[in-house]
Amino acid sequence: MERLFKPRSVAVIGASRNPEKIGHKILRNILEFGFRGKVYPINPKADEILGLKSYSSILDVPGDVDLAVIAVPAPIVPKVLEEVGKKGVPFAAIISSGFKEVGNEELEQEIVEIGRKYGVRILGPNIFGILYSPSRLNATFGPKDVKDGGIALISQSGALGISLMGWTQTREIGLSAVVSVGNKADIEDEDLIEFLGRDPNTRVIVIYLEGIRDGRRFMEAVRKSEKPIVVIKAGKTREGSRAASSHTGALAGEYRVFKGILRQVGALEAKNLEEAFDMARALDFLDPARKPVLVITNGGGIGVLATDALSERGIPLVRNGLEKFRRVIPPFGSWRNPIDLTGQAKVEDYLSALELARDSDAWILLLYCETAVTDPMELAREIERAGIKPIVSMVGGERTQEALRYLNGKRIPAYPTPERAVAGIYALYRGVRFGAKGNP
Ligand code: COA
Repeated sequence: MERLFKPRSVAVIGASRNPEKIGHKILRNILEFGFRGKVYPINPKADEILGLKSYSSILDVPGDVDLAVIAVPAPIVPKVLEEVGKKGVPFAAIISSGFKEVGNEELEQEIVEIGRKYGVRILGPNIFGILYSPSRLNATFGPKDVKDGGIALISQSGALGISLMGWTQTREIGLSAVVSVGNKADIEDEDLIEFLGRDPNTRVIVIYLEGIRDGRRFMEAVRKSEKPIVVIKAGKTREGSRAASSHTGALAGEYRVFKGILRQVGALEAKNLEEAFDMARALDFLDPARKPVLVITNGGGIGVLATDALSERGIPLVRNGLEKFRRVIPPFGSWRNPIDLTGQAKVEDYLSALELARDSDAWILLLYCETAVTDPMELAREIERAGIKPIVSMVGGERTQEALRYLNGKRIPAYPTPERAVAGIYALYRGVRFGAKGNP
């Protein structure tokens, strides 16, 4: 898979002259994201596209090509794929729709056979492309940019994957890779997990999954992954499963069985997109560990909500060595975990409590309700300066949102509600079986 993610040269077959067309947008994204290798537009009707010499066929390209991105109508795909094979290109990403997902099994089988004949591995068809930030490769027709980070996203849904590229950007979520797998005619999630699970630029893998073909192989790949894996399973219900089948032709399978598989191999299941990225954010910024939680708050209510959420997820709270916090608590506060600094808490009070918590072998969950006595941005800056990495939840208005963005920008996981912060802690607590010290 190395060459798929780190190609030295890319050809775009169907690189249209028309800026509105998909083939044109992919070529533009490759150039604008800053790909440093060679780029070859292929279009029999053009001499030059976006300032690059265009070739009639990939067979006319003078140098080697590592990745061919194919964006021509489905009926032409076998012909251009033959040429890709003859050229000796190891990977083809087939953007084109019109295969198994619309019942055209024969055409899909035909391209699989051409791929096999020439040893071309096929990503797709029916995909939006592939992005890998470390290579500055954005061979997608999604946004031209994403925020750099350690989360790799594998998506069986095209439109959803594309939309998440923009969605993550507005939430300070950084991506190492985005891969659209579409119909999975050849390359499966497992092949990608094998690469990303060992990739030094990736810290966590998020997979939007409708169905898997080979449960055993999937389990093995997840088990071997050095990086935690968060799965969003779609098609859980009978109706959802029917929708999945007409979407990517996937067999969604029995959800209960799938859930069991995930549990056995230690993958985390997220209820929805938001929870998946809440989990992934924590795993991107911090190393997983099975530690109890120390809650520091200025609000009793959110302290209770956080405690409920922790307890529901089976995460213990620190119960010993709490007396020292008495010093920083007003007489009407509580020093029993949650450590309640009360609504009058100032930035200094948070810092004193954080200092006392510094050496504890616990996750620190820092909760804040916006009050007029403590400015959220000032608190955020001081948290960062303290050099301790808590998991933060701040509830409040515009200034609080700014503080959340600031903290996430500094790789301190910060969330708008306590329950979402607890989802992050859960991932850190449960993600421990992967690669971390002291694996159970
Ligand atoms: N080799 C290279 N380029 C060729 C070619 C060949 N053999 N034959 C034609 N072309 C060129 C065309 O001339 C055209 O370029 P031009 O606009 O400069 O003339 C370009 O390839 C594209 O072909 P066109 O027929 O205009 O197709 P299109 O751009 O309208 O549609 C797809 C192509 C792949 C985008 C479309 O068929 C498709 O599948 N769309 C759905 C994609 C999708 O949603 N995927 C799933 C994502 S979630």
